[in-house]
Amino acid sequence: MKLRMFAVAGILLALPLVALLAEDKKPTKEPDVIFVPTPQVVVDKMLELAEVKKDDVVYDLGCGNGIIVVTAAKKYGCKAIGFDIDPERIKESNENVKNNKVENLVQIKQEDIFKLDLSKANVVTLYLLPELNVRLIPQLEKLKPGSRIVSHDFDMKGVKPKKVVTVNSPGPDGREHTVYLWVTPLEKEKP
Ligand SMILES: C[S@@+](CC[C@H](N)C(=O)[O-])C[C@H]1O[C@@H](n2cnc3c(N)ncnc32)[C@H](O)[C@@H]1O
Repeated sequence: MKLRMFAVAGILLALPLVALLAEDKKPTKEPDVIFVPTPQVVVDKMLELAEVKKDDVVYDLGCGNGIIVVTAAKKYGCKAIGFDIDPERIKESNENVKNNKVENLVQIKQEDIFKLDLSKANVVTLYLLPELNVRLIPQLEKLKPGSRIVSHDFDMKGVKPKKVVTVNSPGPDGREHTVYLWVTPLEKEKP
């Protein structure tokens, strides 16, 4: 009788742990910016401006549906890693990777971009917010010399871009998008 009671108590105590392990990985914190996808024509321009090569490693910080990392792998045959904090975006990105058969080149990771070590990337793509770009400067400064950073629509106050171009997107969006390019070491603007 005592043994059965211990067994039941053991199962009851273990249940919350089992439930926790079975759950999807929950976000560690709320996203710092909502998901808005970059149109394909702008993605193409970002990667072109970054002069992506087969040997590059592309990181998309806040990868959304994975369009940038999937395009980089398909078009340039390079390795790419997409990071997002939202489990829904991780799911979408993984589906995108699978549908495009680039599992051998692309990884999707659920991480907070502000805790990442960027030293293994040569190309970093951003579509965040101006203040988030500025918050990333200490991490971006640790990129290898000659690494390229491209940002859709938003600048990085205090750091001089090497190039700024505009792209018109067709379709319902139909607006002018701006793409900024920086090359490391970053050129700080004089205050
Ligand atoms: C504007 S969307 C850009 C998506 C994609 N890079 C693109 O250009 O299509 C920004 C993404 O950043 C993600 N995000 C926001 N804060 C984040 C954080 N601290 N760490 C990781 N991802 C984050 C959001 O979940 C969202 O998917």
